[in-house]
Amino acid sequence: MSPQLFNARFGRLIGAGLLACSLAAVTAGCSKSEAPAEKPSAEQIPESATEYKPENLEKEAPMADKAAPESGVDYHSFANSNDYVVKHVDFDLTADFDNKVLSGQAILDIKALNSKNKPLILDTRELDIKAVRAGIGSDLKPVKFSLGKQDPHLGTPLKITLPKGANKVAIEYQTSPGASGVQWLEPQQTAGKKHPFLFTQAQAIHARSFIPLQDSPKVRVTYKATIRTPKDLRAVMSANNDPDAEMDGVFEFEMPQAIPSYLIAIGIGNLEFKPMGERTGVYAEPELLEAAAKEFEDTESMLEATEQNFGPYRWDRYDLLILPPSFPFGGMENPRLSFITPTVIAGDKSLVALIAHELAHSWSGNLITNASWRDLWLNEGFTTYLTNRIMQFVYGDDRYKMEMALGYDDLKADLDDREDKDEIMAIDLRGRDPDEVFSNIPYEKGSLFLYELEQKVGRENFDKFLLEYFNHFAFQSITTEDFVKYLDQTLLKQYPEQLDRARIQQWIFEPGIPEGAPHPQSDAFTKLDPIREQWLNGEIKASDIDTKGWTFHQWKYFLDGMPEKLSEDQLKALDEAFDLTQSKNNEIAFSWLMIAVRNDYQPANARLEDFLVSIGRNKFLRPLYRNMVEHGKTDEAKRIFEKAKPGYHPLTVKVNSKIIYGDDSE
Ligand code: BES
Ligand code: ZN
Repeated sequence: MSPQLFNARFGRLIGAGLLACSLAAVTAGCSKSEAPAEKPSAEQIPESATEYKPENLEKEAPMADKAAPESGVDYHSFANSNDYVVKHVDFDLTADFDNKVLSGQAILDIKALNSKNKPLILDTRELDIKAVRAGIGSDLKPVKFSLGKQDPHLGTPLKITLPKGANKVAIEYQTSPGASGVQWLEPQQTAGKKHPFLFTQAQAIHARSFIPLQDSPKVRVTYKATIRTPKDLRAVMSANNDPDAEMDGVFEFEMPQAIPSYLIAIGIGNLEFKPMGERTGVYAEPELLEAAAKEFEDTESMLEATEQNFGPYRWDRYDLLILPPSFPFGGMENPRLSFITPTVIAGDKSLVALIAHELAHSWSGNLITNASWRDLWLNEGFTTYLTNRIMQFVYGDDRYKMEMALGYDDLKADLDDREDKDEIMAIDLRGRDPDEVFSNIPYEKGSLFLYELEQKVGRENFDKFLLEYFNHFAFQSITTEDFVKYLDQTLLKQYPEQLDRARIQQWIFEPGIPEGAPHPQSDAFTKLDPIREQWLNGEIKASDIDTKGWTFHQWKYFLDGMPEKLSEDQLKALDEAFDLTQSKNNEIAFSWLMIAVRNDYQPANARLEDFLVSIGRNKFLRPLYRNMVEHGKTDEAKRIFEKAKPGYHPLTVKVNSKIIYGDDSE
């Protein structure tokens, strides 16, 4: 039997199901977009548009090149970062929970890269710009500014006329209540149910919905911030958090290392702190604090193991912020403070690979950053590879093999669903919203590619390469081509017998998995295949299966490998023997609910509804809603979605309403 696999992490969003409308278009309305083949065009900039030259035009790319995206060009930013580069941002924002707006000022330190007196163009999205001043040092005077046409994916360019020699720009502004990168939560949506909560999620292109800046991963800034909150709440950021900060409604932060804008992050809520190790701790609502600190107590060991093998941790502290369950992701690697869904607190550390993953981004992603979203695999592929390695360091070989095998199965399932062009690691994202194109490909194909390199040159040599790579490009944003060039100068030179350039090109620029690629497997899984088979054939009863000692991974493998159709009797037998409908492990519950939906297993309906209403993680929601729609349960999906909607993050509303209300094809 070939296991029936589904794409757990991303549903099947690309290919047949690419969404054409960005989250920012929630209020603006959205339409199928015609892919602009170039960087955001000058027509979108009002007035003297001639002053604005997109970088690719400046380089006078020949027409033939238009067929392929240009390396290093960020097609998802309006900013003229070849003319000016923002070096530092100083912002002061007040969180107004009644009106759901952040308001205040951002002061940008800019450096002119050429002597021509061009306007400065920044990224914004639904920001209300009240005033702009600019000048030298502290001598800032009001200047002319204008907003261009809103693009459904990219937001709105802000063009600022600068006085000669200006090195500072101060922008007074306010966010929109529907800002795509901010979620304002009612007390009801939190663990404590008494206080509101706010969190931002800037990756990929949502920082511009709460700060006007050059919202491109190739630009790195240091920042300072003052965040003003209601007096009973604590603010934390991707910066130097102080657990002893006075609770007086004013919190000061500093991020002294230069980071890309998508790593700027704010969380506000009834938060307390508990240390886990010398450099690690958790911020969470008091109701969750103990459980979180226990679940993630190995974070310090993960940090130490990663440092020992891949070079120093360069961000001082590593803390976790546990968010309410509406957080649309599993985790987000905001530097010094990863944002984490509470749905991975399973009680048995079975889902802590998520922590290893976000921690690993402190090297791959935060230290070396993808220069554009086309290069995302440099962030996520390296991180997925490192995650597996960290899991092996801390939990041993069996766990390592299981994590690898599940990742491989995810990749296979994803490849079955996608068009060739979307199976390419260095994906062409021109005219597309990066939010909607993410898949397992940059994660698992990227990781498998690195695993093959490791296998070919030997682990010790590969580790040495990684260590040097992290040093070589530390605090830089790099392109796929920068990486390949570096490979040319290092591994390809050192191991000409083992590696060849053509194969590297194939991995990065061609669809599918190259023939002869490694296929990670786990004995702990393969031994389950005959058991599943025997049960399916009626040779053994569910209650005869000895599941004592099964890990979460084994349960997932066992369930995900079930055939498309099971009989009512089979479903009942499984549920009675293992109480799957009531599983406390959200991953197991999810796998079971996928089976229940496609087989119309009514006893799971109440759990399904509760799951969809209480969890906002799109990794679960998208496949479940899609499954409902595909199995004739659209009305039920609509009813549950409408009930849950007030609590969902803007991104969750956007991507799932497409699935439920149609228009889910490009
Ligand atoms: N950086 C990503 C989340 C992300 C990617 C947000 C792209 C927006 C755009 C984060 O590190 C991540 O990969 N999260 C995964 C973790 C999983 C692979 C262990 C998630 O949330 O599921
Ligand atoms: Zn990641």
